[in-house]
Amino acid sequence: MSMKKVIILEFAPTADEIWNLDHNDIDGYANYDVEKGLVSILDTAHDAKPRPEILAVYAGGKATNVARVIDRLLDEKSNVKIELVTFLPPPQGIFCKLQPVKLNDVEIMPSTPSGMYVQALQILDLVNVRPRFEIIDELQGPTAIQATRRCIEMIIKGTGTSLNFSPRIIWTPKTVHAVLQKLEKLVSNVDMVVLAGAPPIWKPVDNESITPHDFYAEILNLLPPQCDVSVDVRGYYLHKCLFSKKLPTFIFMNKNEFLEASESWKKLNKGNFFGTIIVHNKDGCWVWDKDTPNTDDLFNGSIFYPSPKVEKVYSTIGAGDAMHAGFLKEWVSSENTEDRLSRSVIYSQAVSAVSVSNERATHGIDAVAVDQIFNKIYNKNY
Ligand SMILES: Nc1ncnc2c1ncn2[C@@H]1O[C@H](COP(=O)(O)OP(=O)(O)OP(=O)(O)O)[C@@H](O)[C@H]1O
Ligand SMILES: [Mg+2]
Repeated sequence: MSMKKVIILEFAPTADEIWNLDHNDIDGYANYDVEKGLVSILDTAHDAKPRPEILAVYAGGKATNVARVIDRLLDEKSNVKIELVTFLPPPQGIFCKLQPVKLNDVEIMPSTPSGMYVQALQILDLVNVRPRFEIIDELQGPTAIQATRRCIEMIIKGTGTSLNFSPRIIWTPKTVHAVLQKLEKLVSNVDMVVLAGAPPIWKPVDNESITPHDFYAEILNLLPPQCDVSVDVRGYYLHKCLFSKKLPTFIFMNKNEFLEASESWKKLNKGNFFGTIIVHNKDGCWVWDKDTPNTDDLFNGSIFYPSPKVEKVYSTIGAGDAMHAGFLKEWVSSENTEDRLSRSVIYSQAVSAVSVSNERATHGIDAVAVDQIFNKIYNKNY
C-alpha cells in the first residue's frame, strides 16, 4: 500500500492559556457572586492587584485539537503522512531580521510574536503528525487583521466559575484570495483534507467577493477529484459544502448541529451524495453511509452505535473533536475491508470515551486505553 497523505488545515492558530485567579475572602480580588451572577476581578475593597497563576498553555484551534489527538493515536510505523498546516502572518518590525530556528527538528518560521508562540506550542505537542507553517504576507495589513489568537480562560479558584476570552480570527478579502491560492498548490497531491471549526470572518468588499460562508465550499472545489474530505463544521459553512460541486466524504456533527441543519438535509439531492454522515451525542452516534437523512423522520435509515459506558465523566470539552480524530486515525490507517467503516466508528467512540473519562480530557488520551475499549466492543459484535 502506498503512503497516504492527509492534511489538516488550521486557519485559526491559537495559544490557549488557562490561568488561576485566587479567591480569598480577606485578601482576594476575584469573586463570583452566585446570586447576582456577577464576576469581579478586582476587589476594590481590598486594594489587591490581580496575580494570576498560569496552569497550562497549549496549541489550540479546532483543527489543531484534532491533529493533537490523532498524534497520540498514531504509531511511528503508520503508513500515513499527516500534516497540520497552519496559516500565519509574516514578521513585522525587528522580527523581520529573524532567521528560522529549529525546535525538535522542525523550523519555527519568523512571524509575529504570537505566530511564533503558536508554532513552538504546536511543535512541542506533535510527534507523529508533522506541523507545517505557511507564512502568508496578506495576513498582515493596514486594517485590523487578527491572524492568530490567544484564548485565555481564567478560573476563579474555589467558586466553580471561569471567564473565557476567545477572539475570532479576522481576515480581509485579499487574505482569503492569498490563502486559497496557496491551498491550490498544497492540495494537488493529497488523499484527504480535514476541515474543522468555523473559518475566519471578513467583510466582503463587493458582490464578487467570497463570503466567509462560502470559504470551505471554495476549498472543496479546489481539491482533486480523488481527494477525500472530512468536515466538522456547522451552520451555513456546512450548508454551502453540501451544495458545492465537490461534496464532503465524511461529515461529523453533534445532534444539535444536525437538527439545526434539517433544512439542508431536505434540500440535499439523495442521488448525489456518496459520503458518510456521523451524528453524535452523549448516548452514541448515528451513521448514514452513502445516504442522507430521511426528510420526515430524520433518524430513520441510520445505524446507531451506542457510546461505551464510562465510570465517571470529567470533561466533555472536545469530546466531538476526539471522536473525529479517532475516526480519521482508524480510517486512514486501515485497508479497504468490508468492516472499515464500523471499525472506524467504534474506534472513534472508544477515543471519545477515553477523552471524557480522564481528568485531562483530550490532553489525556492514551492509545492503549483506547485499544482496550475498542477491542472489547469490536470482539463482542464482530
Ligand atoms: N456525558 C457523556 N458520557 C459519556 N460519553 C460522552 C459524554 N459526552 C460525550 N461523550 C462521548 O463523546 C462523543 C462526542 O460527544 P458530543 O456529541 O457531546 O461532542 P461535541 O458536542 O461535538 O463536542 P465538542 O464540539 O466540544 O468537541 C459522544 O458520542 C460520546 O461517545
Ligand atoms: Mg463538535
